[in-house]
Amino acid sequence: MSTATATDPLLQIRGLSVGFPTRAGTVMAVDDVNLSIGKRETFGLIGETGSGKSVLGMAVMRLLPNSARIGGAIMLEGIDILTLDPEATRRLRGGSIGLVPQNPGSSLNPVLRVGTQIGEAVRLHRGVSGREAGQVVHDLLDRMGLPEPEKTARQYPFQLSGGMRQRVLTAIGIAGQPALLIADEPTKGLDAIIRGQVIETLHKAARETKASMLVITHDLQVAEQLCDRVGVMYAGKILEIQTAERLFSAPQHPYTKALLNATPRKGLVPLPGTAPGLFDRPPGCVFAPRCGLVEIACGEDQAMRGMNGGAQVRCRLHAG
Ligand SMILES: Nc1ncnc2c1ncn2[C@@H]1O[C@H](COP(=O)(O)OP(=O)(O)O)[C@@H](O)[C@H]1O
Ligand SMILES: [Mg+2]
Repeated sequence: MSTATATDPLLQIRGLSVGFPTRAGTVMAVDDVNLSIGKRETFGLIGETGSGKSVLGMAVMRLLPNSARIGGAIMLEGIDILTLDPEATRRLRGGSIGLVPQNPGSSLNPVLRVGTQIGEAVRLHRGVSGREAGQVVHDLLDRMGLPEPEKTARQYPFQLSGGMRQRVLTAIGIAGQPALLIADEPTKGLDAIIRGQVIETLHKAARETKASMLVITHDLQVAEQLCDRVGVMYAGKILEIQTAERLFSAPQHPYTKALLNATPRKGLVPLPGTAPGLFDRPPGCVFAPRCGLVEIACGEDQAMRGMNGGAQVRCRLHAG
């Protein structure tokens, strides 16, 4: 698969911008983002907190607040989902696009049996009811690797381990047979063992459903272990897109290199400086104020460029 763009794209994001008007000016949370996700591809979006990853995910889910100013297009199987009416948008969520919510601790209703909660999603998005829905629920639990689906369906969330709850949440995410599954920080706040289980569960969900996946994470290990390609986001812009394998072995953009160097494996080298504010940005490369390789040319806007080997990089070092 070419890394510049997905060869057989399911999702194509074109020139996406999301701004939030505030008294101090417009916060550009997502700034001219272009990316595509192939059929059956798992795409990871990484970057520091506040870089715009969740806002991008919410734009794809059509979950942004009304105040958001949105530009560009989000094509899902050839339809721009930004143009859908509210009814079509409602069908999209949980239908063509499934969401694996964060935090298994609080995303399930504590007073409903898990089978009931999965069943609701099944009835809503598959138009089946009664016994048939019950069968689908058991099938989903089984496919998510829960050993006794009938028993699990009758249990309440508190009776399950964290790893099992995550599988239940993932079962809800795939209940509508989505073409695209979105997981935003699926491992946030989890211990190492459950993190490993989450990676395995999402892997299984992608395989079982043949869905494409967008995994939003600041956990580099998740991106490396789970994703086919990875995009690196900084201050609302994508600075690099590569296959996960190449990104972690041969990062190209100075920001990607700094980000990988800051991981515990490398002994935590914190990035100097802070990310730029999201308004009143100076022109040119958004990373220039923190980059060790900055030169005058960095004051000009950098375009995303395709490189030999398939990476896309937004940096003057990789010009021409
Ligand atoms: N509803 C909102 N109104 C104003 N600013 C917002 C809103 N939602 C997000 N932001 C801002 O957008 C930026 C990106 O946020 P987010 O996408 O949540 O970052 P990430 O998920 O990468 O940590 C942040 O500066 C955040 O404060
Ligand atoms: Mg986030």
